[in-house]
Amino acid sequence: MLILLMTLEELELDSLEGVGPARKQKLIDAGIHTIMDLAVRGPSEVADTVGLDLAAAIELCNKARTRLVEMGRLEKDFVSASEIYKRRQNIEKISTGTKNLDELLMGGIETQAVTEFYGEFGSGKTQLCHTLCIMVQLPKELGGLDGGAIYIDTENTFRPERIAGIAKARDLDPDPILERIIVAKAYNSPHQELIVRELGRVLDQNNIKLVIVDSAVAHYRAEFLGRGTLAERQQRLNRFMHLLLRYSETRNVAVVMTNQVQSVPDQFFGDPTKATGGHIVAHTSTYRIYLRRAGKNRIAKMVDSPYHMEREFPFILNEKGVDDPAEETTSRRGR
Ligand code: GTP
Ligand code: MG
Repeated sequence: MLILLMTLEELELDSLEGVGPARKQKLIDAGIHTIMDLAVRGPSEVADTVGLDLAAAIELCNKARTRLVEMGRLEKDFVSASEIYKRRQNIEKISTGTKNLDELLMGGIETQAVTEFYGEFGSGKTQLCHTLCIMVQLPKELGGLDGGAIYIDTENTFRPERIAGIAKARDLDPDPILERIIVAKAYNSPHQELIVRELGRVLDQNNIKLVIVDSAVAHYRAEFLGRGTLAERQQRLNRFMHLLLRYSETRNVAVVMTNQVQSVPDQFFGDPTKATGGHIVAHTSTYRIYLRRAGKNRIAKMVDSPYHMEREFPFILNEKGVDDPAEETTSRRGR
């Protein structure tokens, strides 16, 4: 699935057979503004949020898909490997601002993928997210994508002053950088889901190249206590994660999310170094990187990736956000 540039007019909902004014309004109320949004959300979510029966939602989403395929905006169901290869040529990379982390990621954070950083408190997840909001704005020759960032802040830890500080330490003017970061505070998990459902429009209108969710799982973890609620929690988390993944693929943007580790083994997950969110988050993320403290340094380890080696590299936190350690201690351990 890949859509490059699109004009919103071509994707008007009422250009689709079966969408009259009333249904259009219901779709818009559910955050579905375009035919692309319909295809991205998929039938079961459209049925739930718009109040359609599933058969009608399937028909509507299939029409949306067909239209997008005809317009060349979406890949056909059966595609040749060479077409996929061509699409993957459009993958772009955002430098982390450190040599070590870029090497771990083989160039940087990729578009068309969800990259998950997980680790204990203070391991540097939020600092890395702040740094990436700046790096993505740099021109391509300096490691950025000349695009803006969206920061979905669920823990109230986004700090514009920190962005300004990191920008200055990197010899950049903070004002235009702050202008190109859109912040959405999510107060609870339904609010977080609402924000992500509305994201399509924001992505289309603001040349966004990076979406950050810091942290993705915190609200779910706090709100769903007890084994009885686990199934619902995992279902909602699954939907949330897949929506993010589809945005990354259809808009050619990078999605970065953070995740905590279990400090106290609880009834769901026994391993204290395992990320919360269970297998849903683990399976949906394209790349997973584990961050931990090691004295004054931090260590990043590639844990899960279709093609990266399982290596680890040190990095530090300083006025530049994330940075390379002063002396070259790039110990790299192969698998
Ligand atoms: P949780 O969200 O609690 O799970 O942790 P996290 O992984 O997001 O940690 P975060 O990225 O917030 O890292 C916190 C650490 O960053 C602090 O312990 C400091 O070591 C470092 N840090 C934060 N702000 C600054 C700063 O302005 N300058 C420097 N040098 N270090 C900072
Ligand atoms: Mg944090």
